[in-house]
Amino acid sequence: MTITLHNWKTDDKLVLMALCNAVDRTFLSDRLPYPYDEADADWWLGMVAENDGKEGVWRAIVVDGKIVGSISVERMADEERNVGAIGYMILTPWWSKGLGTEAVRQMCGIAFRELALERIIGEVFPENLASARVLEKNGFRLKETRAGAVVKGGKAMDVKVYGLPR
Ligand SMILES: CC(C)(COP(=O)(O)OP(=O)(O)OC[C@H]1O[C@@H](n2cnc3c(N)ncnc32)[C@H](O)[C@@H]1OP(=O)(O)O)[C@@H](O)C(=O)NCCC(=O)NCCS
Repeated sequence: MTITLHNWKTDDKLVLMALCNAVDRTFLSDRLPYPYDEADADWWLGMVAENDGKEGVWRAIVVDGKIVGSISVERMADEERNVGAIGYMILTPWWSKGLGTEAVRQMCGIAFRELALERIIGEVFPENLASARVLEKNGFRLKETRAGAVVKGGKAMDVKVYGLPR
């Protein structure tokens, strides 16, 4: 099994829509629209093409030539511009095969290199043990737990913030 990260292309629109409509959203931010339609994909692919390497890095997670997930590091705003926030999602049939760990490993290298960041953070809901584990296996350490910091489905949720220095 070969795990690689690919730049998103306009041609990936249908695969991106299928991915975003199928992914398990239990622990994802409400920021990802559902249903995820063609206009969402057009907007997002355009945003990525314009901002990649500047405001963030966005990649498809590819296993043996097939896109099975998405991963990004987005530059934070204002005085935190030297910090990037990592996010990722993988289709359920591909969980627990080491993909998340390897994708985060590769992505942190890309993000530190291309965005000249000092630190990458990962925000995880406390119940998302797999995601926390993926970060810990890549050297991230728990920095703080922010009580009720994120609203999801109308409910305030705690968030654990992990950090990885350059
Ligand atoms: C989080 C996610 C990317 C993990 O990807 P993955 O490819 O399954 O991750 P890996 O196989 O590399 O590693 C998962 C680790 O979590 C562990 N794990 C999985 N489920 C677990 C659970 N319920 N409790 C404790 N540990 C768990 C695995 O055992 C493994 O650790 P190990 O290698 O020490 O045994 C994937 O579950 C996903 O896409 N989830 C939905 C989207 C999401 O939550 N994104 C993150 C938002 S912060």
